[in-house]
Amino acid sequence: MKPSFPNLTSEEAAALVNHDENIGFSGFTPAGAAKVIPTAIAQRAIAEHEAGRDFKVGVITGASTGPSLDGALAKADAIKFRTPYQSDKDLRASINAGKTHFFDMHLSLLPQYVRYGFLGELDWAIVEAADVSADGKILLTTSVGAAPTFLSQAKKILIEVNSRHPKQLLGFHDIYEPASPPHRRPIPICAADDRIGTQRVWVDPKKIVGVVHSNRNDEVKDFSPVTDVTTRIGLNVAEFLAGEIRNGHIPKGFLPIQSGVGNVANAVLGAMGDHPEIPRFQMYSEVIQDSVIDLVKQDRCSFVSGVSLTVTDPVLQGIYDNLDAFRGRLLLRPQEIANNPEIVRRIGIISINTALEADIFGNINSTHVLGQKMMNGIGGSGDFTRNAYISIFTCPSTAKDGKISAIVPMCSHMDHSEHSVQVLVTEHGVADFRGKDPRERAELVINNCVDPSYRDLLRQYFKLTENGHTPQSFRSAFAFHEAFLESGDMRNTKF
Ligand code: COA
Repeated sequence: MKPSFPNLTSEEAAALVNHDENIGFSGFTPAGAAKVIPTAIAQRAIAEHEAGRDFKVGVITGASTGPSLDGALAKADAIKFRTPYQSDKDLRASINAGKTHFFDMHLSLLPQYVRYGFLGELDWAIVEAADVSADGKILLTTSVGAAPTFLSQAKKILIEVNSRHPKQLLGFHDIYEPASPPHRRPIPICAADDRIGTQRVWVDPKKIVGVVHSNRNDEVKDFSPVTDVTTRIGLNVAEFLAGEIRNGHIPKGFLPIQSGVGNVANAVLGAMGDHPEIPRFQMYSEVIQDSVIDLVKQDRCSFVSGVSLTVTDPVLQGIYDNLDAFRGRLLLRPQEIANNPEIVRRIGIISINTALEADIFGNINSTHVLGQKMMNGIGGSGDFTRNAYISIFTCPSTAKDGKISAIVPMCSHMDHSEHSVQVLVTEHGVADFRGKDPRERAELVINNCVDPSYRDLLRQYFKLTENGHTPQSFRSAFAFHEAFLESGDMRNTKF
C-alpha cells in the first residue's frame, strides 16, 4: 500500500496547531524526539506574540527532549504547562523563574495519566518515525517513551519521518499498552528479554493529518569524561555488588541492572564492566547511554531492554552500521512497561540511581538544588527504587569544589524515603542500610560516605539531640543550607 498522507512542510504542520491545545510529543531524552515541527510551532508562537495574540500549548513528552523541542518552545514562551521531566537549560530557567508550570512525575505513570484523562484532552500526537505505512503502522526511531499512548489517545496525529533512521530498525521495538483498570491483566514479562507486543505502533490512519520529512540527528550531548571521583564511585558500586554475589545475596548468574542518567551513572556502568567478579549481565533499564553500548560490544552485557537509545551521534552511527550485530540484543519499550513496578519487583532489578543530595538517615533528594530549584525531575528513579531487589543511590560526596556537602542533616527536598533506599555509595565508600535503624544508618553514612571535611560537622549535628527514634534538631536541620546561602560554603556551618 502506498503512503497516502499529505506531505507538509514543518510550517504548514505548525499552522494546524491552535493556541491552548495539548500536544503529546515523542521523545524520551532527545532520542526520538520530534524536532522540526516543535521548532516551527515555536516560530509560530513568536509571530503570534508579536501580532499581540496569545499562543501557548500544553507540552507532554516521554521525558526530557532536546533544544529543538523544549529549548525552542521555552525560549518562545510557548508552553502552557510541561510534564513529566526536562533537562533543557532554557526550560529549567523558565520553570525556576516561576514562568512555566511544570509538574514532575514518575515516568511510568505518565501514559496512564494521559489514558485516564487526568491531563485533559490530548489534541495532537506529534511523533518522529522511521517509517509509516498507509494503513497506519508507525515504526518509531530511537525511543518509544509514551508515543504509543499519545498516538492512541490524541485526536489528530502529525508524523515527522526522519530519514536519519533506517527502516531496518524494524524489530528493535516492543509495543504494548496495558488496558485500564478494572480490565488490566498481568504484564507477561518474566525476563529482561521477553517480548510481548508488536514491532510498530498501530493507529487509525484517518487520524494522521500529515507527514513532514526531515533528516535530523538526535540532539544527545556528550558526557563529561570520567573523573577520579566518578571512577571511585563506580569501583565502590562494583565491589559492593561483587561482595553481594560472594555472600549469596545476589544469585551467581546475577540479576538485571537498571542504571540512571548522567555522568555518574555512565562511570558506574564502566566500572561494572571492568570488574572481574561481575558476570556477563542483562539490563532492564530506562535510558541506554553510550557506556551500555560499550558493554554490549565487549559482550559484558548480553541484552539491554530500555526506553531510549540516548547515545551520541558517533555511537548511534556505529550501531546503524552494524545493526544486525545489535539485533536481538537491544530492545526499546514504552516507559510504562520498562519502568513498571510490577515487572521491576518480579524480575528482581538492581537499581542504581544518582542523588543530588542524601541525608544521614538515607533519604534522597534527586531533583531540587538546595530544596528550591528544579534540576531535571524524578524521572524513573522512583519507579525502580521503590520496587528494586536492591536499590542503590550514588553521588559525589561534595559539589561545587567542596563548598556543598551532598550529605546533609536533613534533605532539603524528598524524592525517595529511607524506606525505599537500601544502599548509598560515594567516592569514599558504601553505607548499607539493610537491617539498620536510623542511628546506625547515620553512623554508617558519616563514617563511610561523607567527605572528611564535613564529618565532624555532621557528628556535631547528630549529638545535638539524643531524642527519638530518628534524632533531629529542627533548629539546625537546615544549618548546612543556610550556611551556603549566607556564605557560599557549607563548611562555615555553625550549630
Ligand atoms: N547541591 C547543589 N548542586 C549540586 C548538588 C547539591 N547537593 N549535587 C550536584 N550538584 C550539581 C553539580 O555541581 C552539577 O552542577 P553543574 O551542572 O553546574 O556542573 C549538577 O548538579 C549535576 O551534577 P553531576 O554530578 O554532573 O550529575 P549527573 O550528571 O550525574 O546527574 C542528577 C545527577 C541527579 C542531576 C541526574 O542523575 C538526575 O536528574 N536524576 C534524577 C532522575 C533519575 O534519577 N533518572 C534515572 C531514572 S532511570
